[in-house]
Amino acid sequence: MSTHILPGLVDVHVHLRHPGGAHKETIRTGTAAALAGGVTAVLGMPNTQPPITDAGVLDAALAHVATEALCDVGLYLGAADGNAHEVAAAAERACGLKVYLNDTFGQLRIETLAALRPHFEAWPHGRPIVLHAEDLNVATAIGLGRVHGQWVHIAHVSRAEEIRLIAAAKDAGLHVTCEVAPHHLFLSTDDLARLGALGDMRPRLGTPADVAALWAHLDAVDCIATDHAPHTLVEKASPTPPPGVPGLETTLPLLLTAVEDGRLSLERLVELTSTTPAARFGIATPTESTVEVEVGPEWTLPERGWQTKPDWSPFAGTRVRGRVVRTTLRGATVWDEGRLTAAAGTGRVLTFDAAAVAR
Ligand code: DOR
Ligand code: ZN
Repeated sequence: MSTHILPGLVDVHVHLRHPGGAHKETIRTGTAAALAGGVTAVLGMPNTQPPITDAGVLDAALAHVATEALCDVGLYLGAADGNAHEVAAAAERACGLKVYLNDTFGQLRIETLAALRPHFEAWPHGRPIVLHAEDLNVATAIGLGRVHGQWVHIAHVSRAEEIRLIAAAKDAGLHVTCEVAPHHLFLSTDDLARLGALGDMRPRLGTPADVAALWAHLDAVDCIATDHAPHTLVEKASPTPPPGVPGLETTLPLLLTAVEDGRLSLERLVELTSTTPAARFGIATPTESTVEVEVGPEWTLPERGWQTKPDWSPFAGTRVRGRVVRTTLRGATVWDEGRLTAAAGTGRVLTFDAAAVAR
């Protein structure tokens, strides 16, 4: 058995569900789940109710975060048809612009080039345009980024063809970054029959060949981000289950097990989950925000007892050999041996320094 103290994780893709989704997650429960998973900074997605598509909704949500958050939080603005100038004007208070090009949960979607082009023209250069782009839309995103001199970050890459194109775009010198979600690294279509709706998310699980390609191209991946997308078990059992799975609390146990299995070095784990996302997104993370992990003893990820409000995991039952012992935020212990010790408001609203962005 060994213990390690790592920098707190920086998760650039989390659904905190505020405003309008408090039955699925709140700022309090979502950031508690983050701390339980060793995550000290999260970037929250704008597909809320109402969506975060204007300065008024963004500023109200950030004010709520400032009083409620247990870890550090930034929020994305969402691209809609016709809001390019409004979101660009509020860009410095957001962690980036999120563009949904493919099927997902909620109404936020960009369906035409005429709706998308103004965003690539108006969004400030050097700030991230994060795209839910699958298959051909990965090429759309990379092409528009190239034409308009914008940095594009491809969210939750899940397919062999996609990661190969992104690797080629990077080799060609384009400003393209990407993230991969743990469920696309540790689950595949082989798990669908067992998991049912609990294994349904967007992008859907890939084939075992897709999973193998993601592992083989990990050098082209900038961040591992959870796409933590909580929905209640009642919703998941309904005839039209919403897509998405929680992930904040299971990422480190899964990745530490991969380290134990020799699939990943501990140094690369730290880069993918903390130092590179912080550097890429221009986040100044406090050096005293840490996670102490224990590696070695085998245990089983449980069905219940999670901090995330819906209290389930698609990884329940998985044997793992890593666990979070303790999380500190700016030197204060906020998660200790299975106990939340943070007080509301210990988290801060993140600020972003475009000048500090590392390519
Ligand atoms: O599975 C997903 N769920 N994919 C998304 O892109 C959105 C997310 C959600 O908000 O539930
Ligand atoms: Zn998402």
